[in-house]
Amino acid sequence: MQQAERPENANISKNVVSLPNAQPTSNPDLAHRFSDDQSALRSQVLAWLADNLPQSRLEHILRVEEWAIALADHHGLPVAKAAQAGLMHDLAKYFPPHKLLEIASREGLVLDPVDQVNPHLLHARVGAIVAREQFGVRDEQVLNAIRNHTLGHPTMDALSCVVFLADSLEPGRGDTADLQHLRALSRVDLATAVWQTCDHTLRYLLAKHQLIHPQAIATRNAFLQMAKRKPKVNRDSYQGDHA
Ligand SMILES: [Fe+2]
Ligand SMILES: [Fe+2]
Repeated sequence: MQQAERPENANISKNVVSLPNAQPTSNPDLAHRFSDDQSALRSQVLAWLADNLPQSRLEHILRVEEWAIALADHHGLPVAKAAQAGLMHDLAKYFPPHKLLEIASREGLVLDPVDQVNPHLLHARVGAIVAREQFGVRDEQVLNAIRNHTLGHPTMDALSCVVFLADSLEPGRGDTADLQHLRALSRVDLATAVWQTCDHTLRYLLAKHQLIHPQAIATRNAFLQMAKRKPKVNRDSYQGDHA
């Protein structure tokens, strides 16, 4: 019995293709917000991804990047940070279990029994380590958004919410009524969108008889309470450190 990350759609859209030196966004109004250094780093990361991940995953990553940029812009969050976290969120996606466990052990990460059974879930936290070691990322907000993209975190900030939602809701995930609702919600209220996206994923895991990581439940509970308490979330409304 394995825990899946979240529902995957086998019919991934093939219409998003980006060249290594292209800007991270096709929106000309946003392109100027990316510095030359950021564009150079993006080219490096894309070259690394092309060597280490299949094309279908690279296309997913590019869609997450684009969605994270759009959502960050919509909510008044730093688009360059959203782009960087979106681009790097799945760096460790194809690391084999023994490598994920080895890096986790070396870094002293605290593992839940569900992580032990399904080391794949560690790709989020290990991805942040790769971002730091391989690409020199030092921005804790970006690193946390990478760490939190799969399970969320009860105290994650708005940038992490944006990357979590972009990963869950990008067009390659499908086009069901539920997903359409969640995409619309993500532009209205980040906290409610995170809570309901957690519920969507939890329903999938229950239906598939898969393990559920306690952090996914903690995230869901925290954002359910936040959504009930506070209908709107903005960039300053909650901050926190992260596992
Ligand atoms: Fe992932
Ligand atoms: Fe992903």
